[in-house]
Amino acid sequence: MRDIIITLDGYSSCGKSTLARQLASELNYVFIDSGAMYRAITLYFLRLRVNIAHEKAIHKALGGISLAFQYNELTGNCDMYLNDENVEALIRDMLVSEHVSEVSALKEVREFAVAQQQEMGKQKKIVMDGRDIGTTVFPDAELKVFVTADPAVRVERRFKEMYAKNPGITIEDVKANLEMRDYTDSNREYSPLRKAEDALELDNSNLTREEQLAIVLQWAKEKIAQ
Ligand code: DC
Repeated sequence: MRDIIITLDGYSSCGKSTLARQLASELNYVFIDSGAMYRAITLYFLRLRVNIAHEKAIHKALGGISLAFQYNELTGNCDMYLNDENVEALIRDMLVSEHVSEVSALKEVREFAVAQQQEMGKQKKIVMDGRDIGTTVFPDAELKVFVTADPAVRVERRFKEMYAKNPGITIEDVKANLEMRDYTDSNREYSPLRKAEDALELDNSNLTREEQLAIVLQWAKEKIAQ
């Protein structure tokens, strides 16, 4: 038995976070949604109207950001805090979703977030989901999972999730946003989304949540037992 690091990477709306959260809960590990960190940074940049064309402005803005995850007893999840403010709901809205890919593509933003993510993994016993977790953040992670799903299935899932909070949204809005993020996340210069060579692929287009969890739990238990 050993303590390990588990990474889950993949495109937007593949259900990575839900799966990672459930997996962490089964193993009694810490779950970190790295996307929430990029979303919180984006919210801060939007609020301060940071000009992302200027390196100095980015540097100065990052200096004013403190990120933390705090357990929410009502939901049982860890909420994202930006400078002591709970921004969990705000970071999921469309405005942040529209800007997060460009902000998370900035070198300095990535260095800022990756350093904190690596710190969180020092004690192992962590499940982290994102885009570059198995490639850049924890290249030596014991278990790396690359989650994929049919694009139409992802749009449908994301639409259902967003519609509950924002009934004005259309399926076309969601599709355009996902396509834009897929493109930017995969083609950016720093840490683009790609499958780590040693990652196990999980296509969950036709799997229930329970089935996916059973598969990754089995993989995790095998790695922990090694
Ligand atoms: O997982 P998510 O959709 O909440 O992530 C929001 C954005 O953050 C996503 O479009 C890309 C970026 N991201 C990233 O660049 N690297 C990560 N490790 C996690 C997210």
